[in-house]
Amino acid sequence: MSQIELVSQQYRAHFGSDPQQVIHGPGRVNLIGDHTDYNDGFVLPAAINFGTDIAATQRDDKLVRVLAVDCDNETVEFSLDDISFNENKMWANYIGGTLLALLKAYPNITGADLVVTGNVPQGAGLSSSASFEIAILKTFAALNAIDLDGIQAALMGQDAENNFVGCNCGIMDQLISALGKENNAMLLDCRSLTFEHAPIPENMALLIVNSNVKRGLVDSEYNTRRKQCEAVASHFDKPALRDVTLEQLLAAENDLEAELVKRAKHVITENTRTESALTALQNNDMEKMSQLMAQSHLSLKNDFEISTPEIDFLVDTIAAQLGSEGGVRMTGGGFGGCVIALAPKYLVDAVTQKIAATYQQQTGLKEQVYVCVATDGAFNR
Ligand code: GLA
Repeated sequence: MSQIELVSQQYRAHFGSDPQQVIHGPGRVNLIGDHTDYNDGFVLPAAINFGTDIAATQRDDKLVRVLAVDCDNETVEFSLDDISFNENKMWANYIGGTLLALLKAYPNITGADLVVTGNVPQGAGLSSSASFEIAILKTFAALNAIDLDGIQAALMGQDAENNFVGCNCGIMDQLISALGKENNAMLLDCRSLTFEHAPIPENMALLIVNSNVKRGLVDSEYNTRRKQCEAVASHFDKPALRDVTLEQLLAAENDLEAELVKRAKHVITENTRTESALTALQNNDMEKMSQLMAQSHLSLKNDFEISTPEIDFLVDTIAAQLGSEGGVRMTGGGFGGCVIALAPKYLVDAVTQKIAATYQQQTGLKEQVYVCVATDGAFNR
């Protein structure tokens, strides 16, 4: 049964009628460009064929009633006039936060009955929360006949994360979930919010391997990294690290703490790599992609210091299988989660078997493998 049929059936069972519509918001994987988005830099993610589905019917009052199938069938009920933080059901805050952001621009929207389900692995760094936020925004935009565009929606999703949920994330996850394009990654300029498509060659697969390392440190370390980047930008009296060159950074090396120099070096070099990756993909130059992804991983590991031994093991194992025919690196916020490989389809089985034969033995953890395709974003469907 498709996700759409499944969520429609669940809606019928819970609310006793057919839903008016079903909306899908995809998760994402980032091919290259990590911890660059909140430095006004470049990222190259793709929306993937795992996401959040919402079956919904509009109401003529302000009530929102929700069943969250994947959260033990928990329910919430609240009024659009009275949205407050839910201490007990964290998932409900993604709805409350995005609706508060939507209400700022569209105060007259009405409520809805919703059933939510999804298949993005949670806590794996594949943006289950952004897929949820974008699906909620598309749902309410469609029900209320609001002409919301993908960029507005992405900004609202980020507003919800930053100001309601309490996560200081950048704009990448929401933008790609809203605007992704089938069979393409996208180079997003996180300052101008403009983008360019980067075709994923037909013979290549997006091979995602979840390390299943619990990402415990991620929130506090993410915020620390962000503050460190901002500190270096203000040392140079610039709005963001995007405006600082490698030459400027190295010339000021003695005026800054060594750790800050390493953090900034990652961001500045990652921006350059990410722009080069667009050209490499457009030219179907896998040898170049392979190098850029390898350099990105080393930079995240050594300069940004957000990898883990398990992730490094996966990256090294996969890199040895791919050679210069594909690339592999950690992806997302760090401290566990997934690695992404751009792998020739004919090598996928060999890579998967190699990991199955070695990863658990080495780390005591069992990996999960997802072979994905790049899909359309929620606002591109
Ligand atoms: C998380 C954040 C994004 C981005 C990445 C790292 O996914 O939500 O905004 O900063 O980490 O690239």
